Amino acid sequence: MKADLILKNIGKLVTMQGSSSFRVKEEMNKINIIENAYIAVKNGKILAIGVGDEFGNLCGEDTKIHDAEGLLVTPGLIDSHTHLIHGGSRENEFSMKLNGVPYIEILNNGGGILSTVKATKEASEEALYKKAKKSLDRMLEFGVTTVEEKSGYGLELNTEIKQLEVARALDKNHPVDLVHTFLGAHAVPEEYKENHKAYIDILVDVMMPKIKDMGLAEFCDVFCEKGVFTIEESEYILQKAKEIGYKLKIHADEIESLGGAELAAKLGCVSADHLMAASDEGIKMMAENNVVANILPATSFNLNKNYADCRKMIDMGAIVSLSSDYNPGSCPSENLQLVMQLGCLHLKMTPNEVLTAVTINAAYAIDRADKIGSIEVGKNADFVVFDARNVEYLMYHFGINHTKKVYKNGNLVVDNKVVVYDN
Ligand code: NIG
Ligand code: FE
Repeated sequence: MKADLILKNIGKLVTMQGSSSFRVKEEMNKINIIENAYIAVKNGKILAIGVGDEFGNLCGEDTKIHDAEGLLVTPGLIDSHTHLIHGGSRENEFSMKLNGVPYIEILNNGGGILSTVKATKEASEEALYKKAKKSLDRMLEFGVTTVEEKSGYGLELNTEIKQLEVARALDKNHPVDLVHTFLGAHAVPEEYKENHKAYIDILVDVMMPKIKDMGLAEFCDVFCEKGVFTIEESEYILQKAKEIGYKLKIHADEIESLGGAELAAKLGCVSADHLMAASDEGIKMMAENNVVANILPATSFNLNKNYADCRKMIDMGAIVSLSSDYNPGSCPSENLQLVMQLGCLHLKMTPNEVLTAVTINAAYAIDRADKIGSIEVGKNADFVVFDARNVEYLMYHFGINHTKKVYKNGNLVVDNKVVVYDN
């Protein structure tokens, strides 16, 4: 079989090949590098991987040959936790935050998530699409080829559907693949402040089944936190979601240690996210039940808060992934490379562990490890050429964009740091 494309002269090819669909403990350091490599692509999938110029038999008349100029190539990066689609921005809360007003206090006074809910309700589909597309282009320019996105800025059926439909349209039109999560339990709407149960009933009896029927979301998520949804409420919501057929995620133990990690293990969540205040017992239970610990260090950075104890999580055998949490409040940045650098600088992870956490483990966190997250024959041809010669350099030279080229399903979509796909 002849290849459509060959990327040759790869100085270091990080394949992330391994025998399992996720990596734990010391396996997180084994990223499997081939020096002086090539990748051959056919129909958007990886056809072959090899060394040097031994690809002659894969070349036909129409095979394109691209030169990686001796640089570093990795699997396409995966951002497995974002709140991509929303109206407005919240720079008006920035000075409050700088003056030390807590995140939850801003929310409980009608700001925070609730102010973005208002802006999202008011925004047209076109406006939401345009704004999210701009962010998605930026993510792609940073080397991100798959993104999980959550609703949760409607808190009523029509706006939740509006957000998810915008996401579906973007997924169709934009090179980045999206994975959809319903987060109707992101906050309690103001009119239900004194009556959570009434909102939860609507969520469970009306919104969750409707969104499932419309095929708009694969995962269901809850913001389990003191002052938002309690452990008991979160368990009830997620249990119902599971019965309807959603896979589960949870925003857990971000600020207070409520037992969110334990709940994630008990319910069989695919991931539990944040976890800055997770208990040792909760982490142990997550490790035993293969629940991904999805850590969001740029949120800790931006909120000026503590970081999750990632070192301990890895040592305890948890499947650790890293993601941006891109959203207008706690993390207004699309830069997954900064997240990676914070992984080394603040989570005390090695560069190899960090790369594992944004590729194969991140793929597992969105249940896509069979298709993406590593460079292996048959997987999607998603990969990034970095203007770097080794993985350490990506983490060491911080705050810039190292991406040179990005390939999505075998197509060149970023060239010289800017998007080049057909709009
Ligand atoms: O993951 N923690 C809850 N939700 C988001 C923040 C959303 C917002 O502030 O708009 C998060 O950090
Ligand atoms: Fe979040």
